Amino acid sequence: MDQIDIKSAQVGLIGVGNMGQALLVALLKAGADPSKINFAVRRPERNREIEERYGITAASVEEIAAESDVLMLIVKPQDLESIMERCAPHLKKDALVISFLAGKKIAMIEGGLGNPAVVRVMPNTPTLLGVGMSIVSYGNQVRPDQQRFVSEFLAAAGKSVEVAEELQDAATATSGSGPAYFFAFVEAMVEGAVAMGIDEQTATTLVVQTIVGAAKMLDETGKSATTLRENVTSPKGVTYEGLKVFGEADLAGLVSRAMKAAADRSRDLA
Ligand SMILES: NC(=O)c1ccc[n+]([C@@H]2O[C@H](COP(=O)([O-])OP(=O)(O)OC[C@H]3O[C@@H](n4cnc5c(N)ncnc54)[C@H](OP(=O)(O)O)[C@@H]3O)[C@@H](O)[C@H]2O)c1
Repeated sequence: MDQIDIKSAQVGLIGVGNMGQALLVALLKAGADPSKINFAVRRPERNREIEERYGITAASVEEIAAESDVLMLIVKPQDLESIMERCAPHLKKDALVISFLAGKKIAMIEGGLGNPAVVRVMPNTPTLLGVGMSIVSYGNQVRPDQQRFVSEFLAAAGKSVEVAEELQDAATATSGSGPAYFFAFVEAMVEGAVAMGIDEQTATTLVVQTIVGAAKMLDETGKSATTLRENVTSPKGVTYEGLKVFGEADLAGLVSRAMKAAADRSRDLA
């Protein structure tokens, strides 16, 4: 059985929308050869746009299934079944299938495609900027060289972490939905600043630069969130009074309930 690597593998993308385009950019950044990448979308104008911008080749779903060493499924979950029906008769025996679809289980994809090696990946939207967080679960037929392909490819999209598949819903509720939680917090802080008389544009600058700076401190100082929080919280000081209100309203409990609701919803989508 031939081993695959990023430079030589024939790769097919089915679906190049918001997430597919971000993943294509990461694939090229990781060193994939554009002449070895095929893709399928529905709209002819999108076909032309992707071909012209990235120098990769449009093909039919069936052709892609027949030629790919690595088949990436990046369509909406409701389109999966019909795509699998079209791919199954053509798929190479030793193909690696990478599913980026929310909620869809490895066993279901293996079943729908005649039992190939399957990897399930849940990326998040910062993947668009190369600073994504991907959660990865491997089916038990995935070979070490195929795992290496996935790791190297996802490293170009940001970070990746492997979890047992039963933790995909919890992890999705953490890093998949996470950007939206932080956006909601930014919205609330901007509203809070505006309510105290700061104009919206200035408030937005203050809050966005603050979250960027706080994120960089978390990422680059090696200090925990608890230590960094304590460092800016003098007893009975300004920040202390603000955080006391969070504590009284049980911020941790609220966030935990929100994440549990998101995880439950992810489970429903399976
Ligand atoms: N966006 C996110 O934040 C995010 C995060 C994590 C995971 N995901 C997962 O990523 C997947 C894609 O999401 P998205 O936001 O990228 O969706 P999207 O922008 O709607 O893209 C879907 C793509 O699939 C193509 N497509 C649909 N049916 C097709 C068919 N029969 N043959 C060929 N191509 C077909 C569409 O073609 P056209 O362009 O021609 O319509 C489009 O390129 C979803 O399953 C989602 O769960 C998304």
